[in-house]
Amino acid sequence: MTVKLADLRSRRWYADAGMRGFAHRQRMQQMGLRREDVLERPIVGIINTWSDLSPCHAHLRERADAVKRGVLLAGGMPFELPALSLGEVMVKPTTMLYRNLLAMECEELLRSHPIDGVVLMGGCDKTTPGLLMGAISMGIPALYCPAGPMLNDRHRGRTVGAGTHTRMFWDDYQSGRVEAAEWVSLESRMTRSPGTCNTMGTASTMTAMAEALGFVLPGASSIPAMDAGHTRMATRCGERLVQMIWEDLTPQRLLSRGSFLNAVAVQMALGGSTNAAVHIIALARRAGIPLTLQDLDDVGRRVPVIANLFPSGTQLMEDFYYAGGLPALMNRIREHLSLDELTVTGQALRAQLEGAEVVDDETIRPLNNPISTQPALAVLTGNLCPQGAVIKPSAADPRLMQHRGPALVFDSQPQMLAAMADPDLPCTPDTVLILRNAGPVGAPGMPEWGGLPIPKKLLNQGVRDMVRISDARMSGTHYGSCVLHVSPESAVGGPLALVQTGDMIELDVAGRRLNMQVSDDELARRRSVWRAPVQPFTRGWTRLYQQHVTQAHEGCDLDFLEHGAPTPEPVIF
Ligand code: FES
Repeated sequence: MTVKLADLRSRRWYADAGMRGFAHRQRMQQMGLRREDVLERPIVGIINTWSDLSPCHAHLRERADAVKRGVLLAGGMPFELPALSLGEVMVKPTTMLYRNLLAMECEELLRSHPIDGVVLMGGCDKTTPGLLMGAISMGIPALYCPAGPMLNDRHRGRTVGAGTHTRMFWDDYQSGRVEAAEWVSLESRMTRSPGTCNTMGTASTMTAMAEALGFVLPGASSIPAMDAGHTRMATRCGERLVQMIWEDLTPQRLLSRGSFLNAVAVQMALGGSTNAAVHIIALARRAGIPLTLQDLDDVGRRVPVIANLFPSGTQLMEDFYYAGGLPALMNRIREHLSLDELTVTGQALRAQLEGAEVVDDETIRPLNNPISTQPALAVLTGNLCPQGAVIKPSAADPRLMQHRGPALVFDSQPQMLAAMADPDLPCTPDTVLILRNAGPVGAPGMPEWGGLPIPKKLLNQGVRDMVRISDARMSGTHYGSCVLHVSPESAVGGPLALVQTGDMIELDVAGRRLNMQVSDDELARRRSVWRAPVQPFTRGWTRLYQQHVTQAHEGCDLDFLEHGAPTPEPVIF
């Protein structure tokens, strides 16, 4: 134990001998607490992103009670603080617009209150990076309690999960293969219980990466939300966090370039979401650790996709848990990991992988029998994306990874969606669909519009994948030959703003290139007449966001949050 009671941060509030200390203790006693409850115990914050409009976190209200039990058992004093609940499906225009707001809220909640350490409760896509970004910037001991994936469901004898299957059934409904009555009945299928999406979407990717970074108890990110083991895990989170306070086990001690590369290796082995590219770079920059898109591409080239999970594979998170979960997968890729990295257990990763065995080789494949010969993420550059773009080859049609075709360009999401229903849309399976003004500034918030739908005319011909390019993101549960995160985005004058319908586009994933075959002179001419789109947001959070958000290859954080000297502790008087 390196920290003594007298060293605790909360003592500045509660041990003060003056009138302020009196008021702080008095107000705690107003709630029925005893003087010694706040004076003689470490104070644990529980930041909870539960809300009635966040089905993925529906169980976190009661799980917080389990965390509190653990804190009390370990001699701490728990206080629950609600924070912005970013339920992916309900929050518009996109939760990504608010990830940085949650990060800022988390940091300031911790800074402004008498808190010695924190258990972070989230799981739905942006809550994991948002909470961790805030906790890294705050720098007190922090442990992440993941919401856990929802349970598998079955429809007409077939196992179905959230996200990926929704898109599949929608395409079948659009092309008449699913009847209207079945489509309505599917509303009550696929999402069988509280918990996060049970495919290898962004939620499962980010909670697994949080575990690989060292912020999560071993195996915790794989436990289904409705398993009794999830409640036991939550109790253990509270208990362990109290010990971490005494050990002064801060994020700065957990994080290193090695731990970030471990997280990226896990993303690749899982066939994780492309969204992770933005989040992991944002997290690294908060920690002051260099990490670039090139690093992600390098790891993707050497770590194969071995988790047989949708959308790259065929199974769901519950199957992954039964197969051994994340520790088993990490053990299988241990030659690609830095095993000396410290985790919230207080031990090196090496120790906690001992004995973590895969019990189902079909769900977690051996390294020599991967799910795909294609990587989970490839980073492209070229005259269409000079600062980079990403694609998920493992969840795309291999036939399209080398492709040349004419562009069909849309300037907005509504324009694109209206066109997709047009039976006379001038397109063939070779057409390259392009959507712009969908990036961090342009949309704003870089929504998940990058999985552009297949035009209905082509769906009816049986086409299920095409090359699509945008400065948007794509849901981690979706699949397809979608080039995403084009940087710089079109709204700030990136070359995507200059491409025109009919330009020939060349995609070469093996060569990591994406180009439009347009001469430099012609591009210069188009640039001379280009004007930035007029933005309607003149006030509020969106205005602040548009003024300060960084580009996709930099993590889309706010520029004034990612760097700078540590913020001073608040004055108490
Ligand atoms: Fe919350 Fe997918 S909608 S995890």
